[in-house]
Parts: sequence; structure tokens; C-alpha cells
Amino acid sequence: MVDFGCTPQLDLEFMNREHRKAFDDANALKILLDKALKCRLDNRLNPQPEKVLESEVEVQIKADLSESDSVKIERLLQRLLLDTVTHFELEEQCMEEHCFPARAEHCQEHQRVLQWMAQEHSLWIADCSLSTITHLSDYAADKFPNWLVNHIVTMDTVLASYVHRHGGRSH
Ligand SMILES: [Fe+2]
Ligand SMILES: [Fe+2]
Repeated sequence: MVDFGCTPQLDLEFMNREHRKAFDDANALKILLDKALKCRLDNRLNPQPEKVLESEVEVQIKADLSESDSVKIERLLQRLLLDTVTHFELEEQCMEEHCFPARAEHCQEHQRVLQWMAQEHSLWIADCSLSTITHLSDYAADKFPNWLVNHIVTMDTVLASYVHRHGGRSH
């Protein structure tokens, strides 16, 4: 997992807040996916003996637990997506207000990443399999945070220092 504390802080506080939220969302998602992964692997390694019949109540409890985990993952994916929409909207608003010269390229990159995130989300809606869990865990722990760090140290740094130099507020 990428540690937000190790990423450079920008001149605009609202951007730092949004970035922290994005790292928190991704970390929470990763923790839950790992839990789901462990659960599925445990079930594979230690399958219930077929001869032992479970009571209906026990079966219902197991179904509820896995249902609740999959609902929690769905909620976290939704939260990451909604928080990212807000994060990008706030930056784009700021670019407009300050006539930031490179806003077209920056907004295009935001758009690309939102589409990518929506695709990842739709994988989960289509299929909660082991391979989807593994794929999303890699997205939450590695691909998305690494993209974010790279974006912060490049496009966002340029934006924040431009706005800061042109009298933008830091909160
Ligand atoms: Fe950002
Ligand atoms: Fe950005």
C-alpha cells in the first residue's frame, strides 16, 4: 500500500485533503478485498465435507456473511468513485477560476482515470469471483495509488503551484 504521509504535500490544502481521502478509500477497499480473498481461499482449501449436512440456519448465516462482505466491497467501490468525481470536480473548478493554461490536458487525464475506475467497478458488479477479487486488490493496492502519486507529483503539483502563485487560496 502507498503511504499518503510519504507523498509530497501541495500548496493548496483542499487538494491534500482530497488526496488523503482517495488513499484512505483505496486502503479500506484493499483491506476488505484481502479479507474476502482469504475467506474464499480458506473455503477452497478446507471445503466442507459433503456428508455433513448443515442446518438451514447455518447455511443462511454463511450466506449472509458473504453477502455482507460483497455489499461492503460494492459500497467502497462506489465511495471511491464518488470521492474521485468530487476530487476532480474541485480541481477542475479551481482550474477554471484561475484560467489555468494546461486545463484541457489535466481534465482529459481525469476523464480517462474516471472511465478506468468505472470499468473496474463494473467488473465487480458483473462477477465477484476469485480472479476479480485478485484483480481489484491489485488495482486498490498498486495500480490506482501509483497512478495517484504520479499524478500528484506531476499535473497536480503544476496546478497547485500555478494557482498559489496567482493568488489562489490555500484552503
Ligand atoms: Fe488531485
Ligand atoms: Fe488532478
